[in-house]
Amino acid sequence: MRYTLIVAITFIASFVTSAVDARYLKYKDIHSSSDFIRSSCRACHAGSRMNRSITETCLQCHSNDMKLEKAEKKKLLSSDYRILRDILSADISEALGKTYNHPVGEARGVHNPFETMPEDDSRTPRHVECTDCHNAHLMKKERPYAGIIGVGKGGMTGVQAVKEYEVCFRCHSDSMNLPVSQTNKREEFDEDNASFHPVVTEGKSTLVPSLIRPYRERAIDDGDISIIKCSNCHNNDDKNRAQGPHGSKYQFILSDNYSLQDDVDERPYRYELCYRCHKRSSILSDVTNFTHSLHIKGDILTNRRGTSCYTCHDAHGSKEYTHLIKFNEDVVFRNPSTGEFSFTDKGDFTGECSLMCHGSVHNPKSY
Ligand code: HEC
Ligand code: HEC
Ligand code: HEC
Ligand code: HEC
Ligand code: HEC
Ligand code: HEC
Ligand code: HEC
Repeated sequence: MRYTLIVAITFIASFVTSAVDARYLKYKDIHSSSDFIRSSCRACHAGSRMNRSITETCLQCHSNDMKLEKAEKKKLLSSDYRILRDILSADISEALGKTYNHPVGEARGVHNPFETMPEDDSRTPRHVECTDCHNAHLMKKERPYAGIIGVGKGGMTGVQAVKEYEVCFRCHSDSMNLPVSQTNKREEFDEDNASFHPVVTEGKSTLVPSLIRPYRERAIDDGDISIIKCSNCHNNDDKNRAQGPHGSKYQFILSDNYSLQDDVDERPYRYELCYRCHKRSSILSDVTNFTHSLHIKGDILTNRRGTSCYTCHDAHGSKEYTHLIKFNEDVVFRNPSTGEFSFTDKGDFTGECSLMCHGSVHNPKSY
Protein backbone atom coordinates (compact mmCIF):
# COMPACT_ATOMS: atom_id res chain seq x y z
CA MET A 1 0.00 0.00 0.00
CA ARG A 2 2.74 2.42 1.05
CA TYR A 3 4.91 1.42 -1.89
CA THR A 4 2.10 1.99 -4.37
CA LEU A 5 1.51 5.39 -2.90
CA ILE A 6 5.16 6.37 -3.30
CA VAL A 7 5.21 5.18 -6.88
CA ALA A 8 1.94 6.92 -7.63
CA ILE A 9 3.04 10.25 -6.17
CA THR A 10 6.41 10.15 -7.86
CA PHE A 11 4.88 9.15 -11.17
CA ILE A 12 2.23 11.83 -11.17
CA ALA A 13 4.61 14.54 -10.00
CA SER A 14 7.25 13.60 -12.54
CA PHE A 15 4.60 13.72 -15.21
CA VAL A 16 3.74 17.25 -14.21
CA THR A 17 7.23 18.60 -13.64
CA SER A 18 9.34 16.19 -15.69
CA ALA A 19 12.25 17.28 -13.49
CA VAL A 20 11.36 15.40 -10.35
CA ASP A 21 14.23 14.37 -8.34
CA ALA A 22 14.28 10.91 -6.87
CA ARG A 23 17.44 11.64 -4.92
CA TYR A 24 15.61 11.69 -1.61
CA LEU A 25 14.78 8.03 -1.96
CA LYS A 26 18.49 7.20 -1.86
CA TYR A 27 19.30 8.93 1.39
CA LYS A 28 18.27 8.18 4.90
CA ASP A 29 17.48 11.73 5.76
CA ILE A 30 15.67 13.34 8.64
CA HIS A 31 12.11 13.18 7.35
CA SER A 32 12.33 9.72 5.85
CA SER A 33 13.24 8.20 9.19
CA SER A 34 10.34 5.79 9.67
CA ASP A 35 11.32 5.45 13.34
CA PHE A 36 9.46 8.64 14.04
CA ILE A 37 7.38 9.53 11.02
CA ARG A 38 4.85 7.01 9.89
CA SER A 39 4.17 6.78 6.22
CA SER A 40 6.59 9.49 5.31
CA CYS A 41 4.95 10.81 2.14
CA ARG A 42 1.47 10.95 3.58
CA ALA A 43 2.65 13.06 6.50
CA CYS A 44 3.02 15.97 4.12
CA HIS A 45 1.26 15.02 0.91
CA ALA A 46 -2.24 14.13 -0.07
CA GLY A 47 -2.09 12.49 -3.42
CA SER A 48 0.22 14.29 -5.78
CA ARG A 49 -0.04 17.71 -4.20
CA MET A 50 0.42 19.35 -0.84
CA ASN A 51 -2.77 18.89 1.13
CA ARG A 52 -2.35 22.30 2.78
CA SER A 53 0.01 25.27 2.61
CA ILE A 54 3.69 24.53 3.19
CA THR A 55 3.69 26.40 6.49
CA GLU A 56 0.69 24.50 7.81
CA THR A 57 2.24 21.23 6.65
CA CYS A 58 5.43 21.82 8.59
CA LEU A 59 3.75 23.26 11.66
CA GLN A 60 1.76 20.07 12.13
CA CYS A 61 4.91 18.70 13.77
CA HIS A 62 7.06 21.77 14.46
CA SER A 63 4.72 23.62 16.71
CA ASN A 64 3.58 23.17 20.30
CA ASP A 65 2.94 20.01 22.32
CA MET A 66 -0.79 20.08 21.61
CA LYS A 67 -0.17 19.99 17.88
CA LEU A 68 2.28 17.13 18.38
CA GLU A 69 -0.30 15.04 20.22
CA LYS A 70 -2.72 15.70 17.39
CA ALA A 71 -0.11 14.62 14.86
CA GLU A 72 0.41 11.41 16.82
CA LYS A 73 -3.36 10.80 16.94
CA LYS A 74 -3.55 11.34 13.20
CA LYS A 75 -0.80 8.71 12.94
CA LEU A 76 1.63 11.09 11.29
CA LEU A 77 4.14 10.57 14.08
CA SER A 78 4.96 7.32 15.88
CA SER A 79 4.69 7.42 19.67
CA ASP A 80 8.51 7.29 19.81
CA TYR A 81 8.49 10.92 18.77
CA ARG A 82 8.69 11.78 22.47
CA ILE A 83 12.42 10.98 22.39
CA LEU A 84 12.78 13.95 20.07
CA ARG A 85 10.72 16.27 22.19
CA ASP A 86 13.40 18.94 22.43
CA ILE A 87 13.70 19.08 18.63
CA LEU A 88 10.00 18.87 17.93
CA SER A 89 8.94 21.21 20.68
CA ALA A 90 11.14 23.92 19.20
CA ASP A 91 8.02 25.93 18.55
CA ILE A 92 8.60 27.56 15.17
CA SER A 93 5.14 29.10 15.04
CA GLU A 94 5.80 30.93 18.32
CA ALA A 95 9.08 32.28 16.89
CA LEU A 96 7.41 33.34 13.64
CA GLY A 97 4.75 35.17 15.65
CA LYS A 98 7.27 37.62 17.11
CA THR A 99 7.27 41.29 16.08
CA TYR A 100 10.26 40.99 13.72
CA ASN A 101 10.15 37.86 11.61
CA HIS A 102 10.53 36.16 8.29
CA PRO A 103 7.12 36.66 6.67
CA VAL A 104 6.76 32.94 6.00
CA GLY A 105 3.81 32.03 3.81
CA GLU A 106 2.69 35.63 3.35
CA ALA A 107 3.29 35.81 -0.40
CA ARG A 108 1.18 32.84 -1.36
CA GLY A 109 1.78 30.92 -4.55
CA VAL A 110 5.00 32.76 -5.43
CA HIS A 111 7.47 30.08 -4.35
CA ASN A 112 7.95 27.04 -6.51
CA PRO A 113 10.47 24.26 -5.91
CA PHE A 114 12.19 24.81 -9.24
CA GLU A 115 12.50 28.60 -9.07
CA THR A 116 15.77 30.36 -9.87
CA MET A 117 17.07 32.66 -7.19
CA PRO A 118 18.02 35.45 -6.76
CA GLU A 119 15.04 37.06 -8.46
CA ASP A 120 16.00 38.72 -11.73
CA ASP A 121 12.85 40.83 -12.10
CA SER A 122 12.21 43.76 -9.78
CA ARG A 123 8.46 43.22 -10.10
CA THR A 124 8.57 39.71 -8.58
CA PRO A 125 6.97 39.84 -5.11
CA ARG A 126 9.36 39.03 -2.23
CA HIS A 127 8.56 35.67 -0.70
CA VAL A 128 9.86 33.17 1.84
CA GLU A 129 8.65 29.68 2.81
CA CYS A 130 10.04 27.06 5.19
CA THR A 131 11.22 25.20 2.11
CA ASP A 132 13.29 28.17 0.91
CA CYS A 133 15.65 27.42 3.79
CA HIS A 134 14.96 23.74 4.57
CA ASN A 135 14.50 21.00 2.01
CA ALA A 136 12.08 18.59 3.65
CA HIS A 137 13.19 15.68 1.45
CA LEU A 138 16.94 16.01 1.43
CA MET A 139 18.03 17.69 4.68
CA LYS A 140 20.28 15.61 6.85
CA LYS A 141 21.82 16.03 10.28
CA GLU A 142 25.31 16.56 8.88
CA ARG A 143 24.07 18.60 5.90
CA PRO A 144 21.12 20.66 7.17
CA TYR A 145 20.92 22.68 3.94
CA ALA A 146 21.14 19.75 1.54
CA GLY A 147 18.80 20.28 -1.39
CA ILE A 148 18.72 24.08 -1.13
CA ILE A 149 20.03 25.74 -4.26
CA GLY A 150 21.96 28.70 -2.91
CA VAL A 151 24.22 31.52 -4.03
CA GLY A 152 27.99 31.26 -3.51
CA LYS A 153 30.33 33.92 -2.17
CA GLY A 154 31.37 35.08 -5.65
CA GLY A 155 27.73 35.43 -6.67
CA MET A 156 27.63 32.07 -8.38
CA THR A 157 24.08 30.79 -8.65
CA GLY A 158 22.93 27.18 -8.68
CA VAL A 159 25.23 26.21 -5.81
CA GLN A 160 24.24 23.24 -3.62
CA ALA A 161 24.17 24.98 -0.26
CA VAL A 162 26.54 23.71 2.40
CA LYS A 163 27.01 26.92 4.37
CA GLU A 164 24.18 28.86 5.93
CA TYR A 165 25.10 32.13 4.18
CA GLU A 166 24.65 30.42 0.79
CA VAL A 167 20.99 30.01 1.76
CA CYS A 168 20.63 33.64 2.89
CA PHE A 169 22.27 34.99 -0.27
CA ARG A 170 19.39 33.52 -2.30
CA CYS A 171 17.27 36.48 -1.20
CA HIS A 172 19.60 39.00 0.45
CA SER A 173 22.24 39.52 -2.22
CA ASP A 174 21.65 40.20 -5.90
CA SER A 175 17.83 40.02 -5.85
CA MET A 176 16.43 42.68 -8.18
CA ASN A 177 13.50 43.08 -5.79
CA LEU A 178 15.46 43.94 -2.61
CA PRO A 179 13.57 46.48 -0.49
CA VAL A 180 15.17 49.95 -0.55
CA SER A 181 16.02 49.63 3.16
CA GLN A 182 18.32 46.69 2.41
CA THR A 183 21.76 46.31 0.95
CA ASN A 184 23.47 43.47 -0.91
CA LYS A 185 24.85 41.18 1.81
CA ARG A 186 27.11 39.27 -0.57
CA GLU A 187 28.90 42.51 -1.42
CA GLU A 188 29.16 43.51 2.25
CA PHE A 189 30.85 40.22 3.17
CA ASP A 190 33.07 40.12 0.06
CA GLU A 191 36.61 38.88 0.76
CA ASP A 192 38.07 41.76 -1.26
CA ASN A 193 36.56 44.36 1.07
CA ALA A 194 38.85 46.28 3.44
CA SER A 195 37.11 44.52 6.35
CA PHE A 196 34.19 42.22 7.15
CA HIS A 197 32.85 40.10 9.98
CA PRO A 198 34.15 36.58 9.37
CA VAL A 199 31.04 34.91 7.90
CA VAL A 200 32.25 33.86 4.45
CA THR A 201 35.90 33.44 5.44
CA GLU A 202 38.25 34.37 8.32
CA GLY A 203 38.47 38.12 8.99
CA LYS A 204 41.17 40.47 7.76
CA SER A 205 42.40 41.46 11.21
CA THR A 206 44.78 39.40 13.35
CA LEU A 207 44.49 41.81 16.26
CA VAL A 208 41.05 42.10 17.85
CA PRO A 209 41.88 42.30 21.58
CA SER A 210 38.26 42.52 22.75
CA LEU A 211 37.26 39.06 21.48
CA ILE A 212 35.80 36.71 24.09
CA ARG A 213 36.81 33.04 23.75
CA PRO A 214 35.95 30.80 21.95
CA TYR A 215 35.81 33.60 19.35
CA ARG A 216 39.27 34.27 18.01
CA GLU A 217 40.87 35.97 14.96
CA ARG A 218 42.30 32.66 13.74
CA ALA A 219 41.36 29.14 14.79
CA ILE A 220 44.54 27.87 16.45
CA ASP A 221 43.46 25.71 19.37
CA ASP A 222 40.67 23.13 19.42
CA GLY A 223 37.34 24.80 19.93
CA ASP A 224 38.42 28.24 18.67
CA ILE A 225 35.76 29.87 16.50
CA SER A 226 37.07 32.21 13.80
CA ILE A 227 34.07 31.97 11.46
CA ILE A 228 30.60 33.05 12.52
CA LYS A 229 27.16 32.62 10.94
CA CYS A 230 24.40 35.06 10.08
CA SER A 231 22.31 33.25 12.67
CA ASN A 232 24.87 34.08 15.40
CA CYS A 233 23.38 37.59 15.18
CA HIS A 234 19.99 36.97 13.51
CA ASN A 235 18.18 34.55 15.79
CA ASN A 236 15.44 34.09 18.34
CA ASP A 237 15.92 36.49 21.27
CA ASP A 238 14.95 33.59 23.54
CA LYS A 239 17.96 31.26 23.76
CA ASN A 240 15.83 28.44 25.22
CA ARG A 241 13.30 28.28 22.40
CA ALA A 242 13.44 27.45 18.68
CA GLN A 243 16.79 28.56 17.29
CA GLY A 244 17.17 30.10 13.84
CA PRO A 245 16.31 33.42 12.17
CA HIS A 246 12.56 32.75 12.30
CA GLY A 247 11.63 35.66 14.54
CA SER A 248 12.74 37.88 17.42
CA LYS A 249 11.43 40.66 19.59
CA TYR A 250 14.37 42.77 18.39
CA GLN A 251 14.38 44.71 15.15
CA PHE A 252 16.15 43.10 12.17
CA ILE A 253 15.48 39.69 13.80
CA LEU A 254 18.56 40.26 15.99
CA SER A 255 19.37 37.74 18.73
CA ASP A 256 20.17 40.47 21.25
CA ASN A 257 19.42 44.12 21.75
CA TYR A 258 21.35 46.62 19.64
CA SER A 259 20.63 50.33 19.63
CA LEU A 260 21.50 52.38 16.55
CA GLN A 261 20.78 55.68 18.28
CA ASP A 262 23.06 58.65 18.66
CA ASP A 263 23.25 60.90 21.71
CA VAL A 264 22.53 58.28 24.40
CA ASP A 265 24.16 56.93 27.56
CA GLU A 266 26.13 53.70 27.40
CA ARG A 267 24.58 50.62 29.07
CA PRO A 268 25.49 46.95 28.73
CA TYR A 269 21.99 46.20 27.41
CA ARG A 270 22.18 48.87 24.72
CA TYR A 271 24.98 47.09 22.83
CA GLU A 272 24.26 43.61 24.17
CA LEU A 273 24.70 42.03 20.72
CA CYS A 274 28.29 43.23 20.33
CA TYR A 275 29.22 42.65 23.96
CA ARG A 276 28.33 38.97 23.59
CA CYS A 277 31.54 38.46 21.57
CA HIS A 278 33.50 41.64 22.34
CA LYS A 279 34.35 42.22 25.99
CA ARG A 280 32.74 45.45 27.13
CA SER A 281 35.51 46.28 29.61
CA SER A 282 38.11 45.86 26.87
CA ILE A 283 36.28 48.14 24.44
CA LEU A 284 35.69 50.80 27.08
CA SER A 285 39.28 50.77 28.34
CA ASP A 286 40.63 51.93 24.99
CA VAL A 287 43.18 49.12 24.57
CA THR A 288 43.50 50.03 20.89
CA ASN A 289 44.47 53.64 21.73
CA PHE A 290 41.31 54.79 20.02
CA THR A 291 39.10 56.79 22.42
CA HIS A 292 36.21 54.31 22.35
CA SER A 293 35.21 55.22 25.88
CA LEU A 294 34.86 58.93 25.20
CA HIS A 295 32.80 58.28 22.05
CA ILE A 296 30.56 55.55 23.45
CA LYS A 297 30.00 56.95 26.95
CA GLY A 298 30.20 60.64 26.16
CA ASP A 299 31.92 63.28 28.23
CA ILE A 300 30.55 64.61 31.51
CA LEU A 301 32.78 67.71 31.35
CA THR A 302 31.31 68.95 28.09
CA ASN A 303 27.91 67.51 28.95
CA ARG A 304 27.87 65.35 25.80
CA ARG A 305 26.23 61.96 25.72
CA GLY A 306 27.63 58.97 23.85
CA THR A 307 26.95 57.39 20.51
CA SER A 308 26.24 53.90 19.14
CA CYS A 309 28.76 51.51 17.61
CA TYR A 310 26.58 51.94 14.52
CA THR A 311 27.77 55.55 14.14
CA CYS A 312 31.22 54.23 13.14
CA HIS A 313 30.88 50.47 12.44
CA ASP A 314 28.91 48.33 10.00
CA ALA A 315 28.01 44.97 11.53
CA HIS A 316 28.52 43.22 8.17
CA GLY A 317 31.52 44.74 6.41
CA SER A 318 33.11 47.80 4.85
CA LYS A 319 34.26 48.04 1.28
CA GLU A 320 36.38 51.11 1.89
CA TYR A 321 37.81 50.98 5.42
CA THR A 322 39.49 48.55 7.81
CA HIS A 323 38.00 47.71 11.24
CA LEU A 324 34.44 47.62 9.84
CA ILE A 325 34.43 51.42 9.77
CA LYS A 326 31.45 52.83 7.87
CA PHE A 327 30.03 56.07 9.22
CA ASN A 328 26.35 56.64 9.83
CA GLU A 329 25.73 59.59 7.52
CA ASP A 330 22.78 60.79 9.58
CA VAL A 331 25.22 61.66 12.37
CA VAL A 332 28.66 62.08 10.80
CA PHE A 333 29.22 64.82 8.20
CA ARG A 334 31.88 66.22 5.92
CA ASN A 335 34.52 68.48 7.38
CA PRO A 336 32.93 71.86 6.48
CA SER A 337 36.19 73.58 5.54
CA THR A 338 37.97 70.80 3.60
CA GLY A 339 34.99 68.73 2.51
CA GLU A 340 36.80 65.61 3.73
CA PHE A 341 34.94 62.57 5.05
CA SER A 342 37.34 59.76 5.76
CA PHE A 343 39.08 57.33 8.08
CA THR A 344 42.72 56.46 7.49
CA ASP A 345 44.31 53.37 9.01
CA LYS A 346 47.92 54.22 9.91
CA GLY A 347 48.94 50.80 11.19
CA ASP A 348 48.27 48.84 14.40
CA PHE A 349 46.23 50.94 16.83
CA THR A 350 46.88 54.21 14.99
CA GLY A 351 44.65 56.09 12.60
CA GLU A 352 42.98 59.40 11.87
CA CYS A 353 39.59 60.80 10.95
CA SER A 354 38.74 63.85 8.80
CA LEU A 355 35.08 64.74 9.25
CA MET A 356 32.62 66.52 11.50
CA CYS A 357 30.54 64.92 14.24
CA HIS A 358 28.43 66.45 17.06
CA GLY A 359 29.74 69.81 15.86
CA SER A 360 33.34 68.72 16.49
CA VAL A 361 35.51 69.26 13.41
CA HIS A 362 38.19 66.56 12.99
CA ASN A 363 40.84 68.27 10.94
CA PRO A 364 42.06 65.48 11.13
CA LYS A 365 42.02 63.92 14.60
CA SER A 366 44.51 61.12 15.20
CA TYR A 367 45.09 58.42 17.80
C1 HEC B 1 8.24 16.56 5.82
C2 HEC B 1 7.28 16.78 4.76
C3 HEC B 1 7.44 15.99 3.48
C4 HEC B 1 7.59 14.64 3.36
C5 HEC B 1 7.70 13.61 4.46
C6 HEC B 1 7.60 14.35 1.93
N1 HEC B 1 7.47 15.52 1.22
FE1 HEC B 1 7.43 15.74 -0.80
N2 HEC B 1 7.34 17.75 -0.61
C7 HEC B 1 7.24 18.42 0.60
C8 HEC B 1 7.19 19.83 0.34
C9 HEC B 1 7.07 20.91 1.41
C10 HEC B 1 7.27 20.00 -1.06
C11 HEC B 1 7.28 21.31 -1.81
C12 HEC B 1 8.74 21.76 -1.93
C13 HEC B 1 8.88 23.19 -2.28
O1 HEC B 1 7.87 23.86 -2.49
O2 HEC B 1 10.02 23.68 -2.34
C14 HEC B 1 7.34 18.66 -1.63
C15 HEC B 1 7.41 18.39 -2.99
C16 HEC B 1 7.36 17.13 -3.53
C17 HEC B 1 7.39 16.85 -4.94
C18 HEC B 1 7.45 17.89 -6.03
C19 HEC B 1 8.81 18.12 -6.57
C20 HEC B 1 9.97 18.27 -5.62
O3 HEC B 1 10.87 17.39 -5.58
O4 HEC B 1 10.07 19.27 -4.89
C21 HEC B 1 7.35 15.46 -5.05
C22 HEC B 1 7.37 14.66 -6.32
C23 HEC B 1 7.31 14.90 -3.73
N3 HEC B 1 7.33 15.94 -2.82
C24 HEC B 1 7.27 13.56 -3.44
C25 HEC B 1 7.39 13.01 -2.16
C26 HEC B 1 7.45 11.58 -1.87
C27 HEC B 1 7.37 10.49 -2.91
C28 HEC B 1 7.59 11.45 -0.52
C29 HEC B 1 7.75 10.19 0.31
C30 HEC B 1 8.96 9.44 0.02
C31 HEC B 1 7.60 12.80 0.04
N4 HEC B 1 7.47 13.71 -0.98
C32 HEC B 1 7.71 13.09 1.39
C33 HEC B 1 7.21 17.86 1.84
C34 HEC B 1 7.36 16.54 2.14
C1 HEC C 1 5.07 14.27 10.46
C2 HEC C 1 5.78 15.19 11.27
C3 HEC C 1 6.70 16.19 10.57
C4 HEC C 1 6.36 17.08 9.59
C5 HEC C 1 5.01 17.28 8.90
C6 HEC C 1 7.55 17.87 9.34
N1 HEC C 1 8.57 17.44 10.16
FE1 HEC C 1 10.44 18.27 10.31
N2 HEC C 1 10.98 16.81 11.64
C7 HEC C 1 10.16 15.81 12.09
C8 HEC C 1 10.92 14.91 12.95
C9 HEC C 1 10.38 13.66 13.64
C10 HEC C 1 12.24 15.44 12.99
C11 HEC C 1 13.44 14.88 13.76
C12 HEC C 1 14.05 13.68 13.04
C13 HEC C 1 15.31 13.17 13.69
O1 HEC C 1 15.97 13.91 14.43
O2 HEC C 1 15.66 12.03 13.41
C14 HEC C 1 12.23 16.63 12.16
C15 HEC C 1 13.33 17.47 11.98
C16 HEC C 1 13.31 18.66 11.27
C17 HEC C 1 14.39 19.62 11.21
C18 HEC C 1 15.75 19.46 11.86
C19 HEC C 1 15.73 19.97 13.27
C20 HEC C 1 17.04 19.78 13.99
O3 HEC C 1 17.15 20.29 15.10
O4 HEC C 1 17.96 19.15 13.45
C21 HEC C 1 13.98 20.66 10.43
C22 HEC C 1 14.76 21.90 10.08
C23 HEC C 1 12.63 20.34 9.97
N3 HEC C 1 12.25 19.14 10.52
C24 HEC C 1 11.89 21.15 9.14
C25 HEC C 1 10.64 20.79 8.61
C26 HEC C 1 9.96 21.50 7.55
C27 HEC C 1 10.50 22.70 6.83
C28 HEC C 1 8.78 20.85 7.33
C29 HEC C 1 7.71 21.17 6.31
C30 HEC C 1 8.12 21.08 4.90
C31 HEC C 1 8.71 19.74 8.27
N4 HEC C 1 9.86 19.74 9.01
C32 HEC C 1 7.62 18.88 8.40
C33 HEC C 1 8.81 15.67 11.84
C34 HEC C 1 8.10 16.40 10.91
C1 HEC D 1 15.06 32.34 6.35
C2 HEC D 1 15.39 30.95 6.45
C3 HEC D 1 14.49 30.07 7.28
C4 HEC D 1 13.13 29.92 7.17
C5 HEC D 1 12.17 30.64 6.24
C6 HEC D 1 12.76 28.90 8.12
N1 HEC D 1 13.86 28.46 8.80
FE1 HEC D 1 13.95 27.02 10.20
N2 HEC D 1 15.90 27.42 10.56
C7 HEC D 1 16.68 28.24 9.78
C8 HEC D 1 18.06 28.18 10.25
C9 HEC D 1 19.24 28.93 9.67
C10 HEC D 1 18.06 27.28 11.35
C11 HEC D 1 19.27 26.77 12.13
C12 HEC D 1 19.78 27.67 13.17
C13 HEC D 1 20.99 27.06 13.82
O1 HEC D 1 21.98 26.77 13.11
O2 HEC D 1 20.94 26.87 15.03
C14 HEC D 1 16.69 26.82 11.51
C15 HEC D 1 16.28 25.91 12.47
C16 HEC D 1 15.05 25.24 12.43
C17 HEC D 1 14.66 24.15 13.31
C18 HEC D 1 15.48 23.60 14.48
C19 HEC D 1 15.20 24.48 15.69
C20 HEC D 1 16.00 24.17 16.92
O3 HEC D 1 15.81 24.87 17.95
O4 HEC D 1 16.83 23.25 16.87
C21 HEC D 1 13.41 23.73 12.92
C22 HEC D 1 12.57 22.61 13.53
C23 HEC D 1 13.01 24.60 11.81
N3 HEC D 1 14.01 25.50 11.56
C24 HEC D 1 11.80 24.50 11.14
C25 HEC D 1 11.29 25.49 10.30
C26 HEC D 1 9.90 25.55 9.83
C27 HEC D 1 8.84 24.54 10.15
C28 HEC D 1 9.81 26.68 9.06
C29 HEC D 1 8.55 27.26 8.40
C30 HEC D 1 7.40 27.44 9.26
C31 HEC D 1 11.13 27.29 9.02
N4 HEC D 1 11.98 26.57 9.81
C32 HEC D 1 11.46 28.44 8.30
C33 HEC D 1 16.26 29.01 8.73
C34 HEC D 1 14.95 29.15 8.32
C1 HEC E 1 13.42 32.93 0.04
C2 HEC E 1 13.93 34.22 0.41
C3 HEC E 1 14.67 34.40 1.72
C4 HEC E 1 15.72 33.67 2.24
C5 HEC E 1 16.34 32.40 1.68
C6 HEC E 1 16.15 34.36 3.42
N1 HEC E 1 15.38 35.48 3.62
FE1 HEC E 1 15.60 36.88 5.07
N2 HEC E 1 13.92 37.84 4.42
C7 HEC E 1 13.17 37.48 3.32
C8 HEC E 1 12.01 38.36 3.21
C9 HEC E 1 10.94 38.29 2.13
C10 HEC E 1 12.09 39.27 4.30
C11 HEC E 1 11.11 40.42 4.64
C12 HEC E 1 11.70 41.74 4.21
C13 HEC E 1 12.21 41.67 2.79
O1 HEC E 1 11.43 41.71 1.85
O2 HEC E 1 13.42 41.47 2.65
C14 HEC E 1 13.32 38.91 5.01
C15 HEC E 1 13.78 39.61 6.12
C16 HEC E 1 15.00 39.35 6.76
C17 HEC E 1 15.57 40.17 7.81
C18 HEC E 1 14.96 41.44 8.38
C19 HEC E 1 15.26 42.60 7.45
C20 HEC E 1 14.77 43.92 7.96
O3 HEC E 1 14.89 44.90 7.18
O4 HEC E 1 14.31 44.02 9.10
C21 HEC E 1 16.76 39.59 8.16
C22 HEC E 1 17.73 40.09 9.19
C23 HEC E 1 16.91 38.40 7.34
N3 HEC E 1 15.83 38.30 6.50
C24 HEC E 1 17.97 37.52 7.45
C25 HEC E 1 18.07 36.32 6.75
C26 HEC E 1 19.05 35.30 7.01
C27 HEC E 1 20.11 35.38 8.09
C28 HEC E 1 18.84 34.30 6.10
C29 HEC E 1 19.57 32.99 5.96
C30 HEC E 1 19.54 32.08 7.11
C31 HEC E 1 17.71 34.68 5.28
N4 HEC E 1 17.26 35.91 5.72
C32 HEC E 1 17.19 33.95 4.23
C33 HEC E 1 13.45 36.47 2.43
C34 HEC E 1 14.46 35.53 2.60
C1 HEC F 1 27.90 40.42 13.86
C2 HEC F 1 26.48 40.37 13.76
C3 HEC F 1 25.84 40.18 12.41
C4 HEC F 1 26.09 39.20 11.47
C5 HEC F 1 27.12 38.09 11.54
C6 HEC F 1 25.13 39.40 10.41
N1 HEC F 1 24.33 40.47 10.68
FE1 HEC F 1 22.82 41.21 9.54
N2 HEC F 1 22.56 42.77 10.80
C7 HEC F 1 23.25 42.95 11.98
C8 HEC F 1 22.84 44.22 12.59
C9 HEC F 1 23.38 44.81 13.89
C10 HEC F 1 21.86 44.79 11.74
C11 HEC F 1 21.08 46.11 11.95
C12 HEC F 1 21.93 47.31 11.65
C13 HEC F 1 22.35 47.40 10.23
O1 HEC F 1 21.51 47.46 9.34
O2 HEC F 1 23.58 47.41 9.99
C14 HEC F 1 21.71 43.85 10.63
C15 HEC F 1 20.83 44.04 9.57
C16 HEC F 1 20.56 43.09 8.59
C17 HEC F 1 19.53 43.20 7.57
C18 HEC F 1 18.53 44.33 7.39
C19 HEC F 1 19.11 45.66 6.98
C20 HEC F 1 20.15 45.61 5.91
O3 HEC F 1 21.30 45.99 6.19
O4 HEC F 1 19.90 45.16 4.78
C21 HEC F 1 19.61 42.06 6.80
C22 HEC F 1 18.75 41.70 5.61
C23 HEC F 1 20.69 41.24 7.33
N3 HEC F 1 21.26 41.90 8.42
C24 HEC F 1 21.08 40.03 6.81
C25 HEC F 1 22.23 39.34 7.21
C26 HEC F 1 22.75 38.17 6.52
C27 HEC F 1 22.12 37.54 5.30
C28 HEC F 1 23.88 37.79 7.18
C29 HEC F 1 24.83 36.67 6.85
C30 HEC F 1 25.28 36.59 5.45
C31 HEC F 1 24.04 38.70 8.31
N4 HEC F 1 23.04 39.64 8.27
C32 HEC F 1 25.06 38.61 9.27
C33 HEC F 1 24.18 42.09 12.53
C34 HEC F 1 24.74 40.98 11.89
C1 HEC G 1 29.14 36.01 17.21
C2 HEC G 1 30.29 36.80 17.61
C3 HEC G 1 30.37 38.25 17.20
C4 HEC G 1 29.43 39.24 17.41
C5 HEC G 1 28.02 39.09 17.95
C6 HEC G 1 30.04 40.48 17.01
N1 HEC G 1 31.31 40.24 16.57
FE1 HEC G 1 32.65 41.64 15.95
N2 HEC G 1 34.01 40.16 15.54
C7 HEC G 1 33.83 38.82 15.75
C8 HEC G 1 35.00 38.09 15.33
C9 HEC G 1 35.20 36.57 15.37
C10 HEC G 1 35.92 39.05 14.87
C11 HEC G 1 37.35 38.82 14.35
C12 HEC G 1 37.44 39.06 12.85
C13 HEC G 1 38.87 39.26 12.38
O1 HEC G 1 39.79 38.64 12.90
O2 HEC G 1 39.05 40.08 11.44
C14 HEC G 1 35.27 40.35 15.03
C15 HEC G 1 35.84 41.57 14.69
C16 HEC G 1 35.25 42.82 14.88
C17 HEC G 1 35.87 44.09 14.57
C18 HEC G 1 37.29 44.29 14.03
C19 HEC G 1 37.33 44.03 12.55
C20 HEC G 1 38.68 44.38 11.95
O3 HEC G 1 38.85 44.05 10.75
O4 HEC G 1 39.51 44.99 12.62
C21 HEC G 1 34.97 45.07 14.85
C22 HEC G 1 35.16 46.56 14.68
C23 HEC G 1 33.78 44.41 15.35
N3 HEC G 1 33.98 43.04 15.34
C24 HEC G 1 32.63 45.09 15.76
C25 HEC G 1 31.46 44.47 16.18
C26 HEC G 1 30.26 45.17 16.49
C27 HEC G 1 30.05 46.67 16.39
C28 HEC G 1 29.34 44.22 16.88
C29 HEC G 1 27.91 44.43 17.26
C30 HEC G 1 27.04 45.00 16.24
C31 HEC G 1 30.00 42.92 16.79
N4 HEC G 1 31.28 43.11 16.37
C32 HEC G 1 29.40 41.70 17.09
C33 HEC G 1 32.71 38.23 16.30
C34 HEC G 1 31.55 38.90 16.67
C1 HEC H 1 33.49 57.11 17.09
C2 HEC H 1 33.70 55.92 16.32
C3 HEC H 1 33.56 54.57 17.01
C4 HEC H 1 32.52 54.14 17.82
C5 HEC H 1 31.30 54.91 18.28
C6 HEC H 1 32.82 52.76 18.12
N1 HEC H 1 33.99 52.39 17.54
FE1 HEC H 1 34.86 50.57 17.61
N2 HEC H 1 36.47 51.25 16.61
C7 HEC H 1 36.61 52.52 16.09
C8 HEC H 1 37.92 52.67 15.47
C9 HEC H 1 38.46 53.89 14.78
C10 HEC H 1 38.56 51.41 15.63
C11 HEC H 1 39.95 51.02 15.14
C12 HEC H 1 40.99 51.07 16.25
C13 HEC H 1 42.34 50.57 15.73
O1 HEC H 1 43.01 51.33 15.01
O2 HEC H 1 42.69 49.43 16.01
C14 HEC H 1 37.63 50.56 16.34
C15 HEC H 1 37.88 49.22 16.67
C16 HEC H 1 36.96 48.36 17.22
C17 HEC H 1 37.17 46.95 17.45
C18 HEC H 1 38.41 46.15 17.12
C19 HEC H 1 39.46 46.28 18.19
C20 HEC H 1 39.08 45.69 19.52
O3 HEC H 1 38.98 46.48 20.48
O4 HEC H 1 38.85 44.48 19.62
C21 HEC H 1 36.00 46.46 17.99
C22 HEC H 1 35.71 45.03 18.38
C23 HEC H 1 35.09 47.57 18.12
N3 HEC H 1 35.69 48.72 17.66
C24 HEC H 1 33.80 47.45 18.66
C25 HEC H 1 33.00 48.54 18.95
C26 HEC H 1 31.75 48.44 19.69
C27 HEC H 1 31.17 47.16 20.23
C28 HEC H 1 31.25 49.70 19.78
C29 HEC H 1 29.96 50.15 20.48
C30 HEC H 1 29.76 49.69 21.84
C31 HEC H 1 32.17 50.59 19.08
N4 HEC H 1 33.23 49.85 18.61
C32 HEC H 1 32.00 51.95 18.91
C33 HEC H 1 35.65 53.50 16.12
C34 HEC H 1 34.48 53.46 16.85
